[in-house]
Amino acid sequence: MIIKSIQKFLEGKAGLLYLISNEEDRVERIIAAAAEKCGMTQARFYGWSCVGGFNGDVASADLDADPVACLTYFLHLQEDAFLVFKDLHLLVQENPRLIRQLKECATGLRSTKRKIIFVSPRLALPDELFPFFKIEDVPLPKYDELLRMFQTCIEEHSAAESIRKSLTADLRDKMVRAASGFTALEAQDAYESALMGESAITGKTVDLVLEEKEALVRKSGVLEFISTRAGAWQIGGLVNLKKWLNERNKAFSPEAAKHGLTPPKGILVMGVSGCGKSLCIKAIASHWKLPLLRLDMGKLYDGLAGPPEEAMRNAIKTSEAVAPCVLWIDEIEAGIANQQQKQAGGKEARVLALFLTWMQEKTLPVFVGATANEVEVLPPELLRKGRFDELFYMGLPLKDERLQILSIHMRRRRVDPARFDMDYLAQSTEGLNGAEIEQGIISAIFESSSKKVELSEHILANALRGIVPLSRTMRERIQKIEAWARDRAQKASLETL
Ligand SMILES: Nc1ncnc2c1ncn2[C@@H]1O[C@H](COP(=O)(O)OP(=O)(O)OP(=O)(O)O)[C@@H](O)[C@H]1O
Ligand SMILES: [Mg+2]
Repeated sequence: MIIKSIQKFLEGKAGLLYLISNEEDRVERIIAAAAEKCGMTQARFYGWSCVGGFNGDVASADLDADPVACLTYFLHLQEDAFLVFKDLHLLVQENPRLIRQLKECATGLRSTKRKIIFVSPRLALPDELFPFFKIEDVPLPKYDELLRMFQTCIEEHSAAESIRKSLTADLRDKMVRAASGFTALEAQDAYESALMGESAITGKTVDLVLEEKEALVRKSGVLEFISTRAGAWQIGGLVNLKKWLNERNKAFSPEAAKHGLTPPKGILVMGVSGCGKSLCIKAIASHWKLPLLRLDMGKLYDGLAGPPEEAMRNAIKTSEAVAPCVLWIDEIEAGIANQQQKQAGGKEARVLALFLTWMQEKTLPVFVGATANEVEVLPPELLRKGRFDELFYMGLPLKDERLQILSIHMRRRRVDPARFDMDYLAQSTEGLNGAEIEQGIISAIFESSSKKVELSEHILANALRGIVPLSRTMRERIQKIEAWARDRAQKASLETL
């Protein structure tokens, strides 16, 4: 809990705390509550922001205008005090005086009862300052806080009386949950606009609040909602993987907690291209009837959604807001730090560290479905138990699996598999992956329709044989991936390894 962490900081030796949040008012209330909890009610509260200047008992243009002067003043105070310092993220880059003074403060305030708390919407510290700060992410308002806000919103409504009458316990619960993931201000706005001109709360009111959530996902910049129609993502074969998923069918239901079932954290699916890794993650969301959010690692690093670390934090917060949900990270290796980047301690390394800590500690039901092709570059700490529940390897489909994949894609195109010798077709697709089988069927259908003849086994077999499989052009690469996966991952099929 954030209040506990702040309390621990106030009671501890360190002098500088960096709180990441864009809810400054709320954070100030939390700091005041933490100070009260640890009996520091005597301590003076000072403040500084780049427009408001210094907020204390001395009026000085110098202290107002110059953050370094303000820090110097605070460093030399003789009383117990807090300084809530805003806007550091805007000032600290390439500002040697400020960087120097922050280091002085870190040493000078150690073991004193003078504490500086920086409140910024994003973590923007030069690398050299990281060791001097304690850093905490302020979580968004939780159930009880949202409930209080919802109740205040009703009390202030002109039709409070009739709204209260319409409010069942179930609707109240739904309204509160619908706003999870919002900041205090966003929740207040969502409640106010959903109730505007209304004199009762209905299912529609809940939907209005939920609509705001989709906007929230779009706003994150690196996440997108993927629609998953029930039954649209059929998978051929991969029996082991399906068994694992089926055993966890109920893990995200509201009854699960009552039976002591904790939702799984996630799986990492790796292996040969075109064997259905991405398909699997879409199928999971559809099968478990959970919303699917895709995290675009490319967008995360192109900087358009802000610095990568901040974008990652945002993506995590947003996915937790939508929970229960599936968070799909496609081709995770593209965004993961390699050994050199890790040693350099740059942004890739910090994004990885942030992701790993979150995977280890997350309590909210966000199921992470990650896929990877370049398995060798994945760092061992990602593969360690405690992060993903299971690592699955997908190789080329076996004969029975190819038969199922053929049938799925034929039926999807209204071709009845019963008309063909499927055993023979499955035999002649040896070495093809799922994507290639699908492609073969599509070209056979094109060929028969352009020749105006009925689709025959012969046309199908020819089209499928005409494909030059990836498994031939990349034989050595695939053998290497298989050898790597043999000791590390469960096979998704029954006997691919
Ligand atoms: N086991 C399967 N069952 C049914 N269809 C499959 C299967 N494997 C692959 N396909 C078909 O191939 C298409 C491509 O598969 P998908 O995109 O999931 O492969 P991938 O393993 O993610 O490949 P890449 O590594 O290139 O991203 C799927 O959309 C699906 O139509
Ligand atoms: Mg894929």
